[in-house]
Amino acid sequence: MITRERVQELLDKYVTTEWLKLHMRESEVIMRRLAKHLGEDEELWGLSGLLHDIDYDYVNKDPDRHVVEFDKILEMEGIKIGEEIPEEMYHAIKAHYEENPAIEQKRESKLDYALSAAENLSGFLVACALVQPDKKISSVRVDSVLKKFKKKDFAKTVNRDLIYDIEKTGLSLEEFVKISLESIDEISDEIGL
Ligand SMILES: [Fe+2]
Repeated sequence: MITRERVQELLDKYVTTEWLKLHMRESEVIMRRLAKHLGEDEELWGLSGLLHDIDYDYVNKDPDRHVVEFDKILEMEGIKIGEEIPEEMYHAIKAHYEENPAIEQKRESKLDYALSAAENLSGFLVACALVQPDKKISSVRVDSVLKKFKKKDFAKTVNRDLIYDIEKTGLSLEEFVKISLESIDEISDEIGL
């Protein structure tokens, strides 16, 4: 499997948008902690999180080309699916944007559901931190996050259904939020929250 160092090299080469770098790092730490909690492969899950939006700057944030061009980056870099990129990781990264009609993979495995839930929750939790008086992730409480899910006007671009799908991995929504808050808090200095 691809090493974390190699994934970081790819990020440094293809991702220039600051919030996008942070978003992928947050997705990584949530995915690592989820894998640990669920007895899954921490490296596989973590690197899926770290790599999942690698093509977003490359396609100039064009939603029609997003995730489609993941393949092109792999090809240009000589990275093989089924070798450096395990099939499960490839499937999860493609399926995390199954809403794109050009993507044939559908979310079906625990890793697939966890990745799209984690990357959506990561954005939601950042929005929750930014409305705290001190703007700190450590000030965000689980119950207030659960309440904010129901407020349609709050972080309205975040698709709650994709977050709720975490229950398909056997984890409760509440536990998911708790684990994710703890994970992001561990890198609070790094991400400035
Ligand atoms: Fe993402």
